[in-house]
Amino acid sequence: MRVGIVGVGKVGSCMMACFAKHGHNVLGYDIRQNPLGHVSRTEKDLQYLIEKYGLKRRIRSLEEVVKHSELLFIIVQTPSLPDGCFDVSYVERALKEIGRIDRSRPCIVNSTLPPGACRRLSRYVDALYYNPLYIRLGRVIEDLEQIRFVMIGSKDGQPFKLLDDFWRRTSAADHVLWDTYETVEVTKLALNCIMTCQISMVNKLDEIFEKSGGNIEYLLEILKLDDRFKFGNYRPGLGYGGPCLPRDNRMMGYHCARIGVNGFIFDEIDNINREQLYRIAEKYRAYDRIGVYGLGYKPHSDITVDSQPLELVKVLRDMGKTVETFDPYLPELSTVKSEKELEKKTDIVLLCFPYETEIKCERIWRAGYDRDI
Ligand SMILES: NC(=O)c1ccc[n+]([C@@H]2O[C@H](COP(=O)([O-])OP(=O)(O)OC[C@H]3O[C@@H](n4cnc5c(N)ncnc54)[C@H](O)[C@@H]3O)[C@@H](O)[C@H]2O)c1
Repeated sequence: MRVGIVGVGKVGSCMMACFAKHGHNVLGYDIRQNPLGHVSRTEKDLQYLIEKYGLKRRIRSLEEVVKHSELLFIIVQTPSLPDGCFDVSYVERALKEIGRIDRSRPCIVNSTLPPGACRRLSRYVDALYYNPLYIRLGRVIEDLEQIRFVMIGSKDGQPFKLLDDFWRRTSAADHVLWDTYETVEVTKLALNCIMTCQISMVNKLDEIFEKSGGNIEYLLEILKLDDRFKFGNYRPGLGYGGPCLPRDNRMMGYHCARIGVNGFIFDEIDNINREQLYRIAEKYRAYDRIGVYGLGYKPHSDITVDSQPLELVKVLRDMGKTVETFDPYLPELSTVKSEKELEKKTDIVLLCFPYETEIKCERIWRAGYDRDI
C-alpha cells in the first residue's frame, strides 16, 4: 500500500521502518531537516531498517507525501500544557496543510489527543481517523508488529476497510476495534490510567503493610492465585514515569474537571507517585554515599522524561547525600564509568529498575526494598 508518515520523530521513524519492512511503499515528511539523521540509539532494529530500506531517501516534501499516499498517518508531538491538557496545535497545523493540498486523502492521527479534539480537528479533511498506538518506546517496531489489538475511532464509529485491512496485514492484531472518536480518545487514556492506578495502589498498600508490621509479599502471592486480580506484574518500588503514563493520568484529571466529573482519584494517584519517592529515599537515610543504578525512565532506555530514578537522585542529594550514578545507556548522566566503580565509591547501590538484572554488584538493593536482591 502507498502510505505517508507526517512527523518522523521517535514514534514516526519507527512507523516508517515497520511499514517499509512489511512491504508498504512509504514516504515521510517532517518540518525538521534530516529527521532520520539522529534517531534514538536504543530503539531496537531502527538504525538497521533505516539503512536496509534506504529510508533517508524516502523523506520528501509534504506535497509529494500527500499525493503519494492512500493513507496518511500523522504522528507529531502533542506536549502537555501546564494545566495537564495536551497541546494539539502541531496536529492542527499538519492537518490544515494537508487539507490545503488535498482534503480527500484519508488521514489517521496516531498522536495522543485529548478527548473531544478529534471531532474538532475533523473539519480540516474529508476523512479523519483516530488511531492511538499501544506501544512502548524502545520497542516500538516490535510492538507495532506484535500488537494484539488496534483501536480506531471514526466520526460515526463505522470501520474504513482500507485502514482495517492495512493493520491486519501489517501487525499481528486479531482485533481491530472500531468505535467513535470519543470512545477511543477516552479508552487510550483509560488504559494508561488503569496502569498508574495499579502502580500507586501497590505502593500505597506496601506503605500500609510496612506501617502495620506486615509483609506485602503475602498479598502478592495470593493475587497471583486468583484470576479476578490482574495485579500479577505489579510490585512495590519506584512509581511510574516516562513520556506517557504521568501525562495521560494528568490529562484524565483535567478532562474530568472539564466535563464536571469528580476526578479526585487521578490527583491522588499522582500524589501517591510523588510521595513514594520520599518514602524510598527515607529508607536509606542511614547511608552517606549512595549509588543509583539506572537513570532512564525504564531499563535499556536513554529517555529521561519524568524519570523516577533521576527524581530519586535529586531527592537524595537534597537530603545531603553524596550520590553516584550509573546507567550504561546514559553515560552523559553517569558520574562513574562502571557498576564496579559505583559499588566501590558508595555504601549501598540502589537498583532503580523494576526487575532484577544481571548486574554484578555485591551490595545492590532494589530501590524501595528492605532486603538484598
Ligand atoms: N501510545 C504510546 O505509547 C505513545 C508513545 C510515545 C508517543 N506517543 C505519542 O505520539 C506522538 C508523537 O510522539 P513522539 O515521541 O514521536 O514525538 P517527537 O517529538 O519525537 O516527534 C514528533 C515529530 O513531529 C514533527 N512535526 C511537528 N509538527 C509537524 C508538522 N506540522 N509536519 C510534520 N512534522 C511535524 C517534529 O519535528 C518531530 O520530528 C505524541 O502525541 C505522543 O504522545 C504515544
